Amino acid sequence: MSGREPTVSLLVDRIGELVTQDGPPLRDAALVTEGDRVAWVGPAGRAPAADTRIDAAGAAVLPGFVDSHTHVVFAGDRASEFAARMAGRPYTGGGIRTTVAATRAASDDELRATARRLVAEARRQGTTTIEIKSGYGLSVPDEARSLRIAREWTTETTFLGAHVVPEGDPDDYVALVTGPMLDAAAPHARWIDVFCDRGAFDGEQAAAVLAAGRRAGLLPRVHANQLEAGPGVQVAVRADAASADHCTHLTPADVDALAASDTVATLLPGAEFATRSPYPDARRLLDAGVTVALATDCNPGSSYTSSMPFCIALAVREMRMTPDEALWAATVGGARALRRDDIGRLVPGARADLLILDAPSALHLAYRPGVPLIRTVLRDGVPGDK
Ligand code: NIG
Ligand code: FE
Repeated sequence: MSGREPTVSLLVDRIGELVTQDGPPLRDAALVTEGDRVAWVGPAGRAPAADTRIDAAGAAVLPGFVDSHTHVVFAGDRASEFAARMAGRPYTGGGIRTTVAATRAASDDELRATARRLVAEARRQGTTTIEIKSGYGLSVPDEARSLRIAREWTTETTFLGAHVVPEGDPDDYVALVTGPMLDAAAPHARWIDVFCDRGAFDGEQAAAVLAAGRRAGLLPRVHANQLEAGPGVQVAVRADAASADHCTHLTPADVDALAASDTVATLLPGAEFATRSPYPDARRLLDAGVTVALATDCNPGSSYTSSMPFCIALAVREMRMTPDEALWAATVGGARALRRDDIGRLVPGARADLLILDAPSALHLAYRPGVPLIRTVLRDGVPGDK
């Protein structure tokens, strides 16, 4: 996709703290990549020779962030909606239709430019894998083109035709999403998603959308329990969804169902920040044994941030996740939410997606919120951006 030539082999040495996510962090470590893969990790001084070298000069090195939930294909913004919320208005999801109108009216190049800008922002902040959803087209051609544009940036594309009912009769719209829209979208998507919540789709509709997606070869994930403790999580678990995202309002039965499943709870604290809502209870999920991921939910309505470090800082400060738990959720957790084992960890054979910080330890991501601490990003073994 990138067309970049990978460096043949690269030594990153004098690493102050190497977070591999495969055991405790290593001190005074080195790492060697070969092509687009990690080839070796271990103590500095024992590293094999390589073609080129980066001197980390005592900095922390960690896996690139896996942002498993974004909506970066859209037009316009909803800054005035944000201002109204800060003045006390609640978030309802109703503004999605405002973005749908702007997105339909935009040219391909306008949509592409916004996506490019937001993906570049995310990369500068350490995101090396990004999932991108459609969901602001909500017509057959507009959903298909949103996914085609998303595909220019990632293979982790998600068909979210079932975001809201844009107009007309809800049953007719579900028939469109599960029929002609799915047919047009499926060639460009890996995943299918549905917003199962108040004002969007109910449990029965959501299950039907996911089942149709599966028949078309798409794997399920769900926007669940953002606005109320509705059926979303149970629908997700029953469908063996890779992830139930938001999980802001959960019943005890929801927590138990997640804990007994392979469905990751993806928490999106940028949304609670920007909608001034109570944060999800991450401790309750972690203590129950649920796999937790963190993602940005980058979109113009509920969470207009592309920053995984910001989400980590919120998770630590506001959701009582430990810094280690938050970093794990932003790397391995995100990988699990995408059912991937080649990203999120720095072990031989994994993708050479890693970050060198302007800081001696990964703790600084939460300790120094809002500070641009990502010094170098390696994606597929190649430093820099595309
Ligand atoms: O994940 N909740 C549904 N979808 C998005 C918000 C979309 C919007 O408000 O534009 C979310 O928060
Ligand atoms: Fe979302």
